[in-house]
Amino acid sequence: MHGYGYRPPTITTRAVPDIDPDTARWLTSSAGLDAVADATSDLDVGGEELRIAQRLRDRGLLPEHASAVLAAATARRRARDRWRDADALLFTREGLEQASDPEVSAWRARRFVGQDRTVLDLCAGIGGDTLALAEAGCRVIAVDHDPGRLMLLEHNARVRELEIETRLSDALDVDAPTTWWVHADPGRRRGTTRVRALREHLPPVPSIVERFGTAPGVGIVLSPAVDLADPDLPDGELEFVQLGADLVEAIVWLGEGRRGSAVASSTLLPGGEHLARRGDPEALPTGPVGAHLLEVAPAAIRARLHGAVGADIGAHRVARSRALLTVDQPPPPSAWYRSRTVEAVLPAHPRSVRRWLKAAPERPLEIVLHGVDTSVERWWRDLGRPQRGPEGRRLELVRTDDGAIAIVTDPASGAR
Ligand SMILES: C[S@@+](CC[C@H](N)C(=O)[O-])C[C@H]1O[C@@H](n2cnc3c(N)ncnc32)[C@H](O)[C@@H]1O
Repeated sequence: MHGYGYRPPTITTRAVPDIDPDTARWLTSSAGLDAVADATSDLDVGGEELRIAQRLRDRGLLPEHASAVLAAATARRRARDRWRDADALLFTREGLEQASDPEVSAWRARRFVGQDRTVLDLCAGIGGDTLALAEAGCRVIAVDHDPGRLMLLEHNARVRELEIETRLSDALDVDAPTTWWVHADPGRRRGTTRVRALREHLPPVPSIVERFGTAPGVGIVLSPAVDLADPDLPDGELEFVQLGADLVEAIVWLGEGRRGSAVASSTLLPGGEHLARRGDPEALPTGPVGAHLLEVAPAAIRARLHGAVGADIGAHRVARSRALLTVDQPPPPSAWYRSRTVEAVLPAHPRSVRRWLKAAPERPLEIVLHGVDTSVERWWRDLGRPQRGPEGRRLELVRTDDGAIAIVTDPASGAR
């Protein structure tokens, strides 16, 4: 069993477009599409990129066309595990990296659906979210300041037989009737630097809110690492979304996009489990480690819903500063946590742990740190380099209010 994780987005936003408009137009022509299909097949059978590029040039393709074909073919192959029709779609490398996961786009799009609803999709890129909004039944106006990407978006919409209007414009300059809902997925990189502050997004989140915050419904996609104390965080519902074990995004919902008076919520995909918080986070007492240790889903932790998750099953916290929960009775199966059986609670000294491990049946060991100031490698060396593996026993080193403790856990019972 692997721990929950935060998968950093591989988002890049550049001032220079990653495909120029002439090349994008050619790529969407039948000559361009045939070349991409051929290059994709060549890559599929193990063809080398350099040779394929040479073959494309030998066919008379301009060098910029040949490299766009190769980039589109490579991106298409990478997109296959997420996009059902990747082999018909067009991506640039960065356009694909920046695109929302289709599962996540589809989930987000559901809140935009309404009778005769028009949605302005700001920062549409190659159209990951645009396609999902249109497929959910919205009329969509897609806006981006990158002409090449908008051309690929138009191609992708044709593949899906969706009617989508596009506008080449700065997101902040576009005119919209006051009845339109607004979806925005601003860029989160400046050059090679990943930005976290909302005012550094492209375009800045406070500018989007100032310009469109009074639309009937608004959803703005943010990094899941958004700082809850960011002074520009608008007053709305902040939803954290997890796909499998990975925390993938946060969305701030305003107006009718917000569900009732929710201030925070969390969603687990692909299952669609959803929890919301309307007031302050629920405070759980701390107490001794019980028979089971619960690792709460990161989306619930970030939305500060772990207290509510724990309160439901009578759990308490291992330490005030950690979202790690414990309970004596076997917890019911739930998507909101992973449960492990506690085998031992020991002082956090390698000698004590080594002694315990020596007396126990041998199993692969995974070392997990919970706020302690040490390193996994150091502990592994100090324990005499035991066999390692993620599926077996775990040594959880936890910083508690009274110093560190070592908890040995086993996935055997109660693991989901
Ligand atoms: C994170 S990507 C959007 C990905 C898209 N939602 C998808 O799923 O495919 C951000 C996009 O914002 C665009 N962008 C950045 N600043 C902009 C601005 N001021 N006006 C319009 N578009 C902008 C970039 O060109 C890029 O395509």
